Amino acid sequence: MSATSSPSESATVSRKKKGGKKEIQESLLTPRFYTTDFDEMEQLFNTEINKNLSMAEFEALLQEFKTDFNQTHFVRNKEFKEAADKLQGPLRQIFVEFLERSCTAEFSGFLLYKELGRRLKKTNPVVAEIFSLMSRDEARHAGFLNKGLSDFNLALDLGFLTKARKYTFFKPKFIFYATYLSEKIGYWRYITIYRHLKENPEYQCYPIFKYFENWCQDENRHGDFFSALMKAQPQFLNDWQAKLWSRFFCLSVYVTMYLNDCQRTAFYEGIGLDTKEFDMHVIIETLSKHISINPLKKANKRNRTTARIFPAVLDVENPEFKRKLDRMVEINQQLIAVGETEDIPFVKNLKRIPLIAALASEILAAYLMKPVESGSVDLAEFEPQLVY
Ligand SMILES: [Fe+2]
Ligand SMILES: [Fe+2]
Repeated sequence: MSATSSPSESATVSRKKKGGKKEIQESLLTPRFYTTDFDEMEQLFNTEINKNLSMAEFEALLQEFKTDFNQTHFVRNKEFKEAADKLQGPLRQIFVEFLERSCTAEFSGFLLYKELGRRLKKTNPVVAEIFSLMSRDEARHAGFLNKGLSDFNLALDLGFLTKARKYTFFKPKFIFYATYLSEKIGYWRYITIYRHLKENPEYQCYPIFKYFENWCQDENRHGDFFSALMKAQPQFLNDWQAKLWSRFFCLSVYVTMYLNDCQRTAFYEGIGLDTKEFDMHVIIETLSKHISINPLKKANKRNRTTARIFPAVLDVENPEFKRKLDRMVEINQQLIAVGETEDIPFVKNLKRIPLIAALASEILAAYLMKPVESGSVDLAEFEPQLVY
């Protein structure tokens, strides 16, 4: 966070240390930066080693990305600054935080895709170029959000973040699971907010949401590309371990989102949404619609079956799943309250132990709920398509 604002306006991304050096406040729930095993990635995308790579399909996807549907979409106007000036008090603060977190998340995608584009150039130029074009999209998204911050007299120092933040290492298989899910969730979050504000324009308090309709199509394309990538790596989808891991990733992504959003209900209420309802809608849509990649077109039963990517998913429509999420929120609130007391760190840690154990047991219980088996994946017939 560059120091262009009063400290009270500046939210959570960085602060000055005594020696003048900035440090980053990291927590489990802040948007992360990812790195992976690039050597393994090179092997996975080597067409001589991996015969499952359907290069015709990737060529077609590359043409989609080259078309660059949103090239002229992200153009600002004077409504932004005017709207930002009208946002005052707690809502202003929470808006800034929303912009910061979204910008960090988009920028995280930019960094990962850019590096993958660079590292895969020799092994698989087509896949490499798609990654580069996706990093173009993410840079555009992050830049647009950062310009939004300038309406609040703030700016994220993205160069600083690149160097100073910790990177979380995931093996390629887990990068695929996590990015696929986060792209599809991103799509459903953006389109849900867009549709809601279109129906309830009285809550349209900042114009960035008007851009979400086209914006979310970028995220949808990114998700479809990851579907195609996973399809080319059936070893990541077809065994019992894949079933356990895909459930685990769904759960960790959903729990993180739910806990994060329930800490920021003021934002969702500020735009007229019920936070928990919004999240459950996104969770259910992502899981049910990830089965049918193209929900708006005539998806017959066969298409839905063949389009399944994850071999097993959580039963998110079971009311017990939401009850467990709600209990996690309560425990997380108690954990936050412990952190805010005046106790010495030792006492705080003692108080945290039973709460962390309770949280872990809720998460485990949710994980062990009977999953929805997606069945075997008929990969050969899977055709990713875009939603317009
Ligand atoms: Fe994005
Ligand atoms: Fe994306």
